[in-house]
Amino acid sequence: MYSEKVMDHFNNPRNVGEIENPSGVGTVGNAKCGDIMRMYLDIDENQVIKEAKFKTFGCGAAVATSSMATELVKGKTVQEALNVTNKAVMEALDGLPPVKVHCSLLAEEAIHAALWDYATKHNITIDGLEQPVNDIGEKEEAPQEVY
Ligand code: FES
Repeated sequence: MYSEKVMDHFNNPRNVGEIENPSGVGTVGNAKCGDIMRMYLDIDENQVIKEAKFKTFGCGAAVATSSMATELVKGKTVQEALNVTNKAVMEALDGLPPVKVHCSLLAEEAIHAALWDYATKHNITIDGLEQPVNDIGEKEEAPQEVY
């Protein structure tokens, strides 16, 4: 059901922990499943992400996607980090079962929340970054626009 890469990142998650005095930190949850994710970013003066760490009360898919997401954002600028979408993370993991796709959103949104915190503290704008929501379950329920 899970790819080898997912199992690897679940069994040996990378970048678990906290960063002391992070440049940005963000926490998001999904009230539907009760899972919570906190993401810490260390960003240098050139706006490059030097370190990314996460802590989660989340399911296995949330652990694996966050592990991969933190690996992917490291070395990227804050702007480039926006390209690390949940889709990109799932591709890097060779896919997730459809019922677990929402779990990958937790990592993406937590990174966005941490970037938002960084941008707010440093008074900068990251193009395309929207103010994060605390409960990403709300987003999933957002009505589809009808044209
Ligand atoms: Fe909640 Fe996976 S079931 S994040």
